[in-house]
Amino acid sequence: MAEKKEIIKEYSNKEITVIWKPNSCIHSKKCWKGLIEVFNPKNKPWVNMDGASSNAIKSQVDACPSGALSYTSNNASKRDSSEIIDVQCLENGPLMIKGTVKITHSNGTLEVREKTTAFCRCGASENKPFCDGAHRKIDFKA
Ligand code: FES
Repeated sequence: MAEKKEIIKEYSNKEITVIWKPNSCIHSKKCWKGLIEVFNPKNKPWVNMDGASSNAIKSQVDACPSGALSYTSNNASKRDSSEIIDVQCLENGPLMIKGTVKITHSNGTLEVREKTTAFCRCGASENKPFCDGAHRKIDFKA
């Protein structure tokens, strides 16, 4: 099977940059149902960084279950490295990690995620190590 090419789009205001990886999206619709002023799939571009405060945007991005949306601070030196990481094992679903994580992928590339990241626990995701919603299709129980 041909490997999907990673598409990454970025949208910035003065404080933060929202990163969108459409191939990781599981179409939960949480972003646009929660903050249509910013995430409106009918608009081009679909992300309007002037539609809400940075804190409101960050809160909405944190609710993205797939990790398709993430954000970084435009002033990286303000990051707090002592942040406690919250790990949640969802029933019949992924492992949700809330907080900043640095991921070293199997091919050696590094990725930093600063929000909620869903890691596949069922083994069926085609976007490992991330959950792509496949646990529902295989009726994963754990
Ligand atoms: S846990 Fe969601 S795809 Fe594996």
